[in-house]
Amino acid sequence: MSILFEKVSHTYSPDTPFSYAALTDVDLEITEGKMTAIIGATGSGKTTLVQHLNALLLPTSGKLTILERVIEAGVQPKKLKSLRKDVGLVFQFPEYQLFEETILKDIIFGPKNFGVSEEDAIQKAREVMKLVDLDMSYLDKSPLDLSGGQKRRVAIAGILAMEPKVLVLDEPTAGLDPQGSQQMMGLFRKLNKELNKTVLIVTHDMEHVLNYCDEVVVVKDGKIFCKQDVKTFFKQESLCEELNILPPAIVQLRNACLKCGMNLPDDCFTVDELAKAISKQVKHHE
Ligand SMILES: Nc1ncnc2c1ncn2[C@@H]1O[C@H](COP(=O)(O)OP(=O)(O)O)[C@@H](O)[C@H]1O
Ligand SMILES: [Mg+2]
Repeated sequence: MSILFEKVSHTYSPDTPFSYAALTDVDLEITEGKMTAIIGATGSGKTTLVQHLNALLLPTSGKLTILERVIEAGVQPKKLKSLRKDVGLVFQFPEYQLFEETILKDIIFGPKNFGVSEEDAIQKAREVMKLVDLDMSYLDKSPLDLSGGQKRRVAIAGILAMEPKVLVLDEPTAGLDPQGSQQMMGLFRKLNKELNKTVLIVTHDMEHVLNYCDEVVVVKDGKIFCKQDVKTFFKQESLCEELNILPPAIVQLRNACLKCGMNLPDDCFTVDELAKAISKQVKHHE
């Protein structure tokens, strides 16, 4: 029970004519050690939800428990600094937040802010550059010299340098080309599987949800519509339809084959698995 939302609501600009209830009575538990996708239509409240995880936004009612720290509506949160070290939040388009003259300075900014010595912070910067697969020679360059995808990796490296236990990424692959976005997802998988970080990803990409994530949380109109195991979720064709979600290509193909009268098992989620199941059916009818 590392992350728990209990009846969390968030209203922007409360008590003004512009007041807007972006989250209502959210109950949600995020499983530690898993890779969880947060999906939902634009404006459904995904960003508002994840910005509560490091207390960038505070609940207007309800209570959150994040790695043993309790954040309650109306109570000034304590230990904010250590929470922000433990929960790394990567904004959408984080490359716009690089502001130092060199990449090294950008990456060591966070650790130094948390009291790490310059020497140790530089050592850490080297480690995280390796982790995000960027050449050390970039450390002395300006962030402006990098491509969009590289800048984004530097921004993520800056968060990783603080050694967060939980990594929250708001649409981390938006605007990247297919190869860049695969590499980015591969990095998150590595952080999850090899470094045991709990990873939460806000995404619109259902292929990424199926291929990389364990669990999926659907946000709808400021509420949690459901939280399920990814495969269980995509097995429910009518649920995806109801939510206006176009399932991953492999799931669409299986659904189409079922409509053509094929009898396929419900656990084929890779090209290989589906091909084998179809060939079995075809042979059966020969
Ligand atoms: N700072 C803000 N002030 C007022 N309303 C906001 C603010 N940020 C977001 N909203 C509104 O809250 C709702 C949820 O927004 P957001 O959490 O950004 O959704 P998502 O990330 O799912 O697209 C939207 O209707 C949005 O317009
Ligand atoms: Mg958003």
